[in-house]
Amino acid sequence: MAGSGDADSEHDVLSPAPDGEDRRVEPSLRPQRLSEYLGQEKIVELLDIYMQAARGRGEALDHVLLFGPPGLGKTTLAHIVAREMNSKLRSTSGPVLERAGDLAAILTNLEPGDVLFIDEIHRLGPTVEEILYPALEDFQLDLVLGSGPMARTVRIDLPRFTLVGATTRAGLITPPLQARFGIVHRLDFYSPDVLSVIIRRSAGLLEVPVDQGGANEIARRSRGTPRIANRLLRRVRDYVQIEADGRIDRATASEALLQQEVDEYGLDKIDRKIMRLLIEHYGGGPAGLKALAASVGEDQGTIEDFYEPYLVQKGFLQRTPRGRVATPRAYEHLGLTVRETLF
Ligand SMILES: Nc1ncnc2c1ncn2[C@@H]1O[C@H](COP(=O)(O)OP(=O)(O)O)[C@@H](O)[C@H]1O
Ligand SMILES: [Mg+2]
Repeated sequence: MAGSGDADSEHDVLSPAPDGEDRRVEPSLRPQRLSEYLGQEKIVELLDIYMQAARGRGEALDHVLLFGPPGLGKTTLAHIVAREMNSKLRSTSGPVLERAGDLAAILTNLEPGDVLFIDEIHRLGPTVEEILYPALEDFQLDLVLGSGPMARTVRIDLPRFTLVGATTRAGLITPPLQARFGIVHRLDFYSPDVLSVIIRRSAGLLEVPVDQGGANEIARRSRGTPRIANRLLRRVRDYVQIEADGRIDRATASEALLQQEVDEYGLDKIDRKIMRLLIEHYGGGPAGLKALAASVGEDQGTIEDFYEPYLVQKGFLQRTPRGRVATPRAYEHLGLTVRETLF
């Protein structure tokens, strides 16, 4: 991901993609069962019904497509679906499946009822996507054997399986692909209350003492995202271990997060840079995403998938047909005066 490997890596604590430490720690913090999956009540309630019904009929669950910004629990949910269906999970991702043959190899190795998880499914190439259509719809695979005049197509029957697809980019899923999912859900940002429960659960697993005030303080600044809540918890844990008595309460959490330059809304340097540039270089907007991303020095996709959704949700930024606009709240947050002419 652009912007994470360069000198500007001070914003790592809130960066969208999982970092090395996340990859190591996340599996141990991941809820294993649907009943442990906090928040997202509607999705949990519906998936529970669909899975019970499919199990009752002895069938594979219908294909599931999950949308949502990074860190909200898509991968976790895919694991849970496999576990609750007593199935094996096979994981892969859009960019890894370069050739149709890569996907064909996975599909022909599936066993009945298996759950196939394709992360970043919007990044499947067109030829790979095309062989997925009949596989999803009719559980059939058309393989081309040989090449040139000798080429022939064989049709292979696949076992009934469940595809769980995940994507951060709702707009990039092609309509024919989306149409083949029977269950489609968009994950929402988590409320501070739910994040606080997630933090206390993780703290229990990590054996860090944290009181309600400390958990609430971290929750409030986790930009609605469990991955970030868990990551901030680990940073605060380090801080209290060295600077205090190892316990997390409101005061120590707040000090630790201040040191990480995470402000009271959970905004980091890049968020503030986006708002500042929008206001100072573009007169508050509207500014096009491309131009804005170039000024900020971040990858366009990262801004669109990660930074913007939260800034929009918190009312700092608006997406208009003409571009991105800073709201009066953004001026206020940065201590700048709103130019009257704009509003
Ligand atoms: N609903 C949830 N309840 C508790 N923890 C969660 C939940 N969703 C996500 N997490 C935590 O956040 C981490 C990141 O979630 P993940 O599923 O990897 O996000 P995504 O795949 O959407 O980027 C997980 O390892 C897990 O610890
Ligand atoms: Mg994931």
